[in-house]
Amino acid sequence: MKPTNPPKTYRVKNFGCQMNVYDGDRMGELLSEQGITPAPEGEDADLVVLNTCHIREKAAEKIYSDIGRLTKGKTQKKAPMIAVAGCVAQAEGEEIMARAPAVSMVVGPQAYHRLPDMLDKAVKGERATDTDMPAIAKFGALPKRRRTAPNAFLTVQEGCDKFCTYCVVPYTRGAEISRPFSDLTEEARKLVDAGAREITLLGQNVNAWSGEDDAGRAVGLAGLIHNIARIDGLERIRYTTSHPNDMDDALIEAHGEVDKLMPYLHLPVQSGNDRVLKAMNRSHTAESYLKLLERFRKVRPDIALSGDFIVGFPGETDAEFEDTLKLVDEVRYAQAYSFKYSPRPGTPAATMDNQIAKEVMEERLARLQNALSRDQMAFNAASAGKTCDVLVERKGKLPGQWLGKSPWLQSVWFEGDVQIGDMVRTHIVEGRPSSLRGELVSD
Ligand code: SAH
Ligand code: SF4
Ligand code: F3S
Repeated sequence: MKPTNPPKTYRVKNFGCQMNVYDGDRMGELLSEQGITPAPEGEDADLVVLNTCHIREKAAEKIYSDIGRLTKGKTQKKAPMIAVAGCVAQAEGEEIMARAPAVSMVVGPQAYHRLPDMLDKAVKGERATDTDMPAIAKFGALPKRRRTAPNAFLTVQEGCDKFCTYCVVPYTRGAEISRPFSDLTEEARKLVDAGAREITLLGQNVNAWSGEDDAGRAVGLAGLIHNIARIDGLERIRYTTSHPNDMDDALIEAHGEVDKLMPYLHLPVQSGNDRVLKAMNRSHTAESYLKLLERFRKVRPDIALSGDFIVGFPGETDAEFEDTLKLVDEVRYAQAYSFKYSPRPGTPAATMDNQIAKEVMEERLARLQNALSRDQMAFNAASAGKTCDVLVERKGKLPGQWLGKSPWLQSVWFEGDVQIGDMVRTHIVEGRPSSLRGELVSD
């Protein structure tokens, strides 16, 4: 590669989960510390960071078309310096370097604190790859939090030891690690000082978080939530994504004890059939999952439930898929994500017999999504007539229109004289398929 001028502006393009959004924000902060500023909307950036996701095939393939568009001047007038970060960088770093000569830097999710050094090299014309894994080193090397949206993310836990047979995350994010209690309390406080009113605690298995509180007592996620709830100015706490097997009594009880903890639980189940769950190595059954949800509903009857589903796991029969529909009928999710099974290189399921035909997967997905949309619509319709707090997140499309979130994580549209970051009392007048229409309640 030829030496080049140091970039003056950057853009981070995030794919995948919320942990990538958090990482993308942190990379932005690092670049800002180097004097590189975010490229204004609609203008070319000198440096583009593609923060990639490897979870399904489509997500991973997307990066090559993105690189193509960037270099051929379709996304920007001038081709930028390109860095590939995130989970595809971790899994396929060498392949990216070989396949895409336009890429200057490949940096894994646990190594991006070294981005400034890599940038120095890139400016000299040297390509650089860093996919080292020790996750915890990164957090200490990152700059302090300065600015944030009213709804901020805070990564508390990384990695996964569960090895579900379909999933790449244990390979791209490494083993489960928990960040220390005191670091997290401090970062949460900084986020609130910087404008956060809601914090979502993040982890691939967030409820596997464990640590020691300031008195040296062993605590789980509930202990961390209790502590963060004491921060003045912080009004809402959420956490995602949980694993059914890491759920403990304290976390369930916290939903009845901590006012700031929002009535929402994202708990992926993947399938409603025990043979499939076993083949997936999920180590919970449909029944144990349902029992858990029951306990949450007992302490927090209005809790909104969300989940993840995979249809067409190798060997899944029609009857086994019906069990998933049965589970959905029983739970009545407020909201959920569902996917066609995608074979991922290096995972055990990718080489299992009886891979399911694409058409069968598509048909099952359509039926599942129908049921999930029905339930989401019913949940939203039942919100009509309620009055609730809405955290204002951004402007709507029309003048005077605003968008915020209800306690149950529904998007709420309304009109009025408010600002981003306000918490406003709102009367819900209409439930729509994926949002609510509200009216401000005057004092
Ligand atoms: N740690 C979380 C989420 C991991 S990834 C959990 O354990 O549930 C987010 C979702 O992507 C998963 O819940 C699963 O539904 C889906 N997913 C993961 N691997 C997949 C694959 N190979 N094909 C299709 N969907 C997949
Ligand atoms: Fe993937 Fe399973 Fe780990 Fe979730 S628990 S990240 S689905 S391996
Ligand atoms: Fe994707 Fe990596 Fe998140 S594979 S879902 S970006 S952990």
